[in-house]
Amino acid sequence: MAQDAGWSPQDADVERPSPARMYDYFLGGSHNFAPDRELAERYMQVLPDMPEIARANRKFLVRAVRALTAAGVDQYLDLGSGLPTQGCTHETARKINPSARVVYVDVDPVTVEFGRSLLDTTSGVEILHADLRAPQAVLDSAEVARCLDLSRPVGVLMVAMLHFVPDTDDPAALVAAYRDASAPGSHLVVSHATSDYHPETMREAASVYNSGATHGMNFRSRAQIGALLSGYELLEPGLVDVIRWRPDDDHDPLGGDVSRYNLLAAVAQKPSVVLAT
Ligand SMILES: C[S@@+](CC[C@H](N)C(=O)[O-])C[C@H]1O[C@@H](n2cnc3c(N)ncnc32)[C@H](O)[C@@H]1O
Repeated sequence: MAQDAGWSPQDADVERPSPARMYDYFLGGSHNFAPDRELAERYMQVLPDMPEIARANRKFLVRAVRALTAAGVDQYLDLGSGLPTQGCTHETARKINPSARVVYVDVDPVTVEFGRSLLDTTSGVEILHADLRAPQAVLDSAEVARCLDLSRPVGVLMVAMLHFVPDTDDPAALVAAYRDASAPGSHLVVSHATSDYHPETMREAASVYNSGATHGMNFRSRAQIGALLSGYELLEPGLVDVIRWRPDDDHDPLGGDVSRYNLLAAVAQKPSVVLAT
């Protein structure tokens, strides 16, 4: 039995590594258990850049939410949110608009339980334990009903999470379900791991991950990731290497080789006017 700080819900499976807690470990957090850390360490033997990749991903999330909030987006549905710490959506948005509202959704019960305790006294922010592969259940949830008005534009986040959805679960159809439920003018924020640059390394990395984690890793090509965004218009600069999405500094801990991030990112908008076909 994994032993750690006493914060996991009674019935949670903490023996099986979860992407949420491994990600927390990569970010330097403490909300993870020995099995999470062991698999994360094995993963880093194949991909030693992973902590920098995780940090670059969170920094992209911050830049994207900042840009959207500055443009007037005041409500967010953060799917596969992980822990609401270290540059999370509501804190970032509320620095610009203190009344911004957020629903966090994650499939990992430990992460959600801990998130609830963090957000206990924060109004206008909800956390929902759900699998985003059941879009109707998410969209019909009491948390979404209490917090968001889906008749108005919303920012939907799927940041570093679609690579946990295998092709057999039809990620394009899932993206489309959330797009169709969003008002015209809504946005989608995406980052997605890619195997384009280092296919052999990423194949090995996926096999380590898939050997134990609750959700397997599905790297995709730029073309496949782009195809997931159909029905949206990409904002500038398009689908790009994660540190190239509207950078706010020159800091590149991986020394200028963007391929080492193996992560593409984009922000896109559902058109306000649907053209007749
Ligand atoms: C790498 S973390 C990314 C966290 C956050 N979005 C970020 O970018 O900082 C991926 C998250 O997706 C969650 N996740 C994976 N599959 C999911 C699913 N089917 N439904 C909901 N959450 C899921 C994991 O539990 C994990 O917290």
